[in-house]
Amino acid sequence: MSAPKLHRESIVSHVGVGQDPMYGAVSTPIYQTVTYQHPGGELGRYDYTRTENPTRTSLSEGLAALEGGAGATLFASGMAAIVALLHLFKQGDHVVLTNDLYGGTYRVLVDVFQHFGLRYTFVDTRDLGAVAAAMTPETRLLFVETPSNPLLMISPIRALADLAHQHGARLAVDNTFMTAVRQRPLELGADYVVYSATKYLAGHNDVLAGALIAQSRDEQARIHALANTTGGVLAPFDAWLVLRGMKTLAVRLDRQEANAQHIAVFLAEHSAVARVFYPGLATHPGHALHRQQASGPGAMISFQLQHEDRYADFMNALRLVLPAVSLGGTESLITHPFSETHREFPEEMRWALGIRPGLLRLSVGLEHADDLIEDLANALDHVKG
Ligand SMILES: Cc1ncc(COP(=O)(O)O)c(C=O)c1O
Repeated sequence: MSAPKLHRESIVSHVGVGQDPMYGAVSTPIYQTVTYQHPGGELGRYDYTRTENPTRTSLSEGLAALEGGAGATLFASGMAAIVALLHLFKQGDHVVLTNDLYGGTYRVLVDVFQHFGLRYTFVDTRDLGAVAAAMTPETRLLFVETPSNPLLMISPIRALADLAHQHGARLAVDNTFMTAVRQRPLELGADYVVYSATKYLAGHNDVLAGALIAQSRDEQARIHALANTTGGVLAPFDAWLVLRGMKTLAVRLDRQEANAQHIAVFLAEHSAVARVFYPGLATHPGHALHRQQASGPGAMISFQLQHEDRYADFMNALRLVLPAVSLGGTESLITHPFSETHREFPEEMRWALGIRPGLLRLSVGLEHADDLIEDLANALDHVKG
């Protein structure tokens, strides 16, 4: 009899179970070791922790099962995972990327990979015509964030996978805002999924981690070898923190999303708010497309204040929502993309995209929705007039 196909909720709650052959510990032990004995000169399954570590293996197997990929390679941060993805390409190759994306992804291309001859173009990946026009004979990778950071733009994953493949390129999706509990890019034709596991996967604002998952076994093996060669791997204790966090991923997302939906409606009706960006609102331009390719709107909301210059007053008036970068954790955090997460974008690019001084990005946490709304209402009162 074949094993039953489990729901994502069951996969995450059992992540790491059954990994202790010695004592049957339910929680994966932290194998805090660099090296492993190999009597008789024969190397065993594990020989050196940069190559492999049982705690990390447990997390990669869980993540691959959740995502449906050939395997998952874990890195010390989301940026290290993105760097590993870019290391799959070579001098002269061209990458097309979503123009509204995490500032660190922009920075690593412009400040690092450009110097090694990787070329790039940022486009609006919602627009298939614009993406097709940006592809060149050298384009090898299309890198997409959907929903994007910070404007929550929705790009069509399946159509972009087809387009990339027609041009002999691969599609990578940064799925940090959704996780496989909500959106599974590999099932929609993507070749790679990349994560800042620091965010929803780990979920507690206490660990940096990254993951890269490939559709094909050969590519996964190549990524694993790359991680071992370049060395930016996830430490055993950090892997354990992500494992522990992942067990509550589904239930956290349910609650954070429910909170976010209430808050988005509240913000959309408030006179001090000029615009709300949230895929869960029917007025969001990507609402219908997002519903086709994801099973929930997520818990990230961006909004623009009517009085752009009052953003600092607004942030200072908040008591429960913490002004801090990062996202996806239990505590609600608010960020000012113009001066923080996206400051490395050239100013004209920020303005052209709509990353303006009045824009704020809210990561909705697990507090009670009423308390969050009261906090936001109070701070908005400060910037009404
Ligand atoms: C969408 C997205 N991708 C990647 C990263 C980079 O991840 P890390 O901070 O874990 O290096 C971030 C960080 O904020 C992010 O928001």
